Amino acid sequence: MVKPIIAPSILASDFAHLGCNCHKMYDSGADWLHIDVMDGHFVPNISLGPPIITSLRKEIPREEGKPTFFDCHMMVSEPEKWVPEIAKAGGDQYTFHYESTKDPVALVKLIKDHGLKAACAIKPGTDVGVLYPLAESLDMALVMTVEPGFGGQKFMKDMMPKVEDLRSKYPQLNIQVDGGLGEATIDDAANAGANVIVAGTSCFTAPDPSKLISLLRSKVED
Ligand code: DX5
Ligand code: ZN
Repeated sequence: MVKPIIAPSILASDFAHLGCNCHKMYDSGADWLHIDVMDGHFVPNISLGPPIITSLRKEIPREEGKPTFFDCHMMVSEPEKWVPEIAKAGGDQYTFHYESTKDPVALVKLIKDHGLKAACAIKPGTDVGVLYPLAESLDMALVMTVEPGFGGQKFMKDMMPKVEDLRSKYPQLNIQVDGGLGEATIDDAANAGANVIVAGTSCFTAPDPSKLISLLRSKVED
């Protein structure tokens, strides 16, 4: 069985206190930090890029036995271009969008050649079948549950058949859902078979993030 992985999205953090807030999420039981990189072109928003990831990696150095994993969600038009920089900055996983590249197979190889884990995301309008030829070479598939670009949107439950389909075909694959996840929507995602849960607004507005993270984890474990 795949294990539950809870990944707070730092897009929902107050960026003036980013370092502290990242520590707080790991201290509250987060497994990964989900880092949304947006270029204002693939999506209609700009967020953060390699210099901030470099600073965060200095603040949160890799340490045996401690969660320090940086899950980089690349919402950019030229995903090939940023692989070396994300590797250098201290990313651990590079999730590109299927819609953003002409050659996903070559891109997966490029990502792995740079020592990063490789993941592929699909937007809500993209058929899940595009992932089949890639799945065996991926460390994770990301099924978007909102249109990428902004935090705080409503979870699209109608994406769950994609997750069910992937889970039935690939029992060992990490399947991530991203957008609108929290207490009210975790059951749908967990029942469909998602095991990697991105939660931005819900984690960063929770009065007690550790409680929420435990709850999300327990639903995936069930
Ligand atoms: C949206 C981003 C998400 C976003 C999730 O484009 O990919 O990671 O931060 O935020 P919430 O959990 O607030 O929907
Ligand atoms: Zn994301």
